[in-house]
Amino acid sequence: MFIENLALNNYRNYDNADITFSDGINILYGDNAQGKTNILEAIYMTATTKSHRGNKDKEIIKFGKDESHIRTEIKKNDIGHRIDIHLRKNKSKGIAIDMIPIKRSADLFGMINIILFSPEDLSIIKNGPSERRRFMDMELCQLNRLYYNNLSTYNKVLNQRNNQLKEDMYDKNRDIIDVWDSQLIDYGLKIIDERDKFINMINEIIKDIHEHLTNGKEKLKLIYDKNVSREGFAIELCNKRDMDIRLMNTSVGPHRDDIIFLVNDIDVRKFGSQGQQRTVALSLKLAEIELVKKIINDSPILLLDDVMSELDSNRRDALLSSISGIQTIITCTGYDDFIKERLSIDKIYKIEQGKIIV
Ligand SMILES: Nc1ncnc2c1ncn2[C@@H]1O[C@H](COP(=O)(O)OP(=O)(O)O)[C@@H](O)[C@H]1O
Ligand SMILES: [Mg+2]
Repeated sequence: MFIENLALNNYRNYDNADITFSDGINILYGDNAQGKTNILEAIYMTATTKSHRGNKDKEIIKFGKDESHIRTEIKKNDIGHRIDIHLRKNKSKGIAIDMIPIKRSADLFGMINIILFSPEDLSIIKNGPSERRRFMDMELCQLNRLYYNNLSTYNKVLNQRNNQLKEDMYDKNRDIIDVWDSQLIDYGLKIIDERDKFINMINEIIKDIHEHLTNGKEKLKLIYDKNVSREGFAIELCNKRDMDIRLMNTSVGPHRDDIIFLVNDIDVRKFGSQGQQRTVALSLKLAEIELVKKIINDSPILLLDDVMSELDSNRRDALLSSISGIQTIITCTGYDDFIKERLSIDKIYKIEQGKIIV
């Protein structure tokens, strides 16, 4: 699959922009704060309905405007499709696929598969657990609409349980908490099962990738560090209820999950060097590309946001050699030599103050 065209209207610092991509390698270059990441963000929204930077819709709409549009034309198995996203200041967003409005965001998932790689991803090992959960969730949501529905229901139930825990002592209703508990378990187990499968699939792929990246020196294995096991969920939730009531927060469940990365059986988060951690992060991205290819039986679209300059030449080469046959959109500040020498570029645009310069 690939994106043929992207049109933006009142999106971030763009008034109107129209950009055509090749199915090969595309470069967007320009100084800082000109609008390069904004373009990748718009593409990411087309796949996931949300910004990877976590902004709300009203923050994405151009300052002083009420509405914003993203129109994306894609080609998938030789068939063209159009995705429209309409952001509105005080209303929920409107989405249409091939001009037909869809009711639920989940219906968009799977239309296009995006893998975004930004400098923050290089810190995924040393950052907090929420970033690692986000990594699992964003990928699983794109690959599995049911997962997205289960996860959003789980989060709603969790919120409601937490609200109930925050009620005044006398208003706290244990029967209501019972209801939320049973739903938390129902949806939570589905999430745990899918994350389990996901980590197993990544493990099957990542070992060889990482061994190759480290010239056979390092063996990498991911451990899905569950906050609670499938079997123990109901019991733990019950055991911790009094504590949860006191602390007014839910302490048990997959919203507290994590991933551990073992390099030669050692926890690289605690004991790895920064270089080792970054190599693991790169292996993780490369494994993600392979996994998505395998599952969708097509190529995902790869967005590399300012990441080239963060990698040394070995790691850069490893990344570049894995992108053949994949539409790739690369942003960078300078049109550097390594890009000219190493890549056969199909399209190149300069981005300047919210304008695309050919
Ligand atoms: N809602 C918005 N309306 C107008 N401009 C915005 C909005 N949000 C961000 N910007 C502007 O977008 C620019 C940053 O764009 P970005 O794509 O992150 O830059 P870069 O080229 O460094 O990747 C900044 O100048 C910022 O002020
Ligand atoms: Mg940027």
